[in-house]
Amino acid sequence: MNTMSFPQTRMRRLRRTDSLRALVRETTLEPGDLIYPLFLCPGEGVRREVGSMPGVFNLSVDEAVREAEEAARLGLGGLLLFGLPETKDEQGSGAWDSNGIVQQGLRALKQSAAAKSLVLIADVCLCEYTSHGHCGVVVETPSGFEVDNDPSLDLLSRTAVSLAKAGADVVAPSDMMDGRVGAIRHALDGEGCADTPILSYASKFASAFYGPFREAADSAPQFGDRRSYQMDGANLREAMREIDLDLGEGADMILMKPAMPYLDVIRAARERVGVPIGAYQVSGEYSMLQAAFQKGWLDRDRSILESLLGIRRAGADFIVTYFAKDAAKLLN
Ligand code: PBG
Repeated sequence: MNTMSFPQTRMRRLRRTDSLRALVRETTLEPGDLIYPLFLCPGEGVRREVGSMPGVFNLSVDEAVREAEEAARLGLGGLLLFGLPETKDEQGSGAWDSNGIVQQGLRALKQSAAAKSLVLIADVCLCEYTSHGHCGVVVETPSGFEVDNDPSLDLLSRTAVSLAKAGADVVAPSDMMDGRVGAIRHALDGEGCADTPILSYASKFASAFYGPFREAADSAPQFGDRRSYQMDGANLREAMREIDLDLGEGADMILMKPAMPYLDVIRAARERVGVPIGAYQVSGEYSMLQAAFQKGWLDRDRSILESLLGIRRAGADFIVTYFAKDAAKLLN
């Protein structure tokens, strides 16, 4: 510890020039740290902007391939794929359909040159595919409708296997059912996909900041909310238990979500575990910044980079962000 104080010590000496500031910068941010989410939808030539997320689109597979090529040119680390199926049902069968929307997208992306430099991550969940919009199987009990944990595991496992077989480099379960990482690992191993890594959304909080995503992915719950399976925002110790359990079940990497209101959770995870940690700057974080940019209340370029740098400094190795392309353009 340097105990000298002013005037021997002057912190401003190392802030005087760009080159000095660059030399002593502790945290880096590079395009390769960034993962860009894509929302795939049926059709051809479709590019439909999401109302609450300016600059984010529902894309048909052909358009998604173009996005991927741009993402690769910009040096992004990878893509996170979500799907809007043609039809939905009670079980969410579109999620594990070998000809489902994300499966089609994966096969097309795998054939493009972009796939060589991008990690293709497939989100594993049922909420975009179920008519009720919940992330698991819904059953009626004497006390009302409930999301039933154990029967959901089989459906999530089938989904993960189907996505891996269609070409996903990584599967990322975001449903928050108990035991799903173990079930998915077991299913992947049994189906010849032992080399497919699992990025588990280990600590995923029930958050208001997912609102715009539910418009983008058409996945809002039709009744109730997700608080019986996603975590209570007040709980840091519980987040650590979730992480320990997911790693115990075989998760290769963990994803923390949302990012900005939960930077302390990312930091605590970083200090606790050695596995790679990703953080998801979620839709609401994107939308509120975009709204401020539109009003001219915040400087766009600096705010984008500062929001991402803060997440890296908290301890995330990589960041899922709708600003991935914008940030990469600023960094390149
Ligand atoms: C699916 C899922 C959600 C998000 C990622 N995967 C929505 C939710 O849990 O309601 C949110 C991502 C975002 O807000 O950008 N379960």
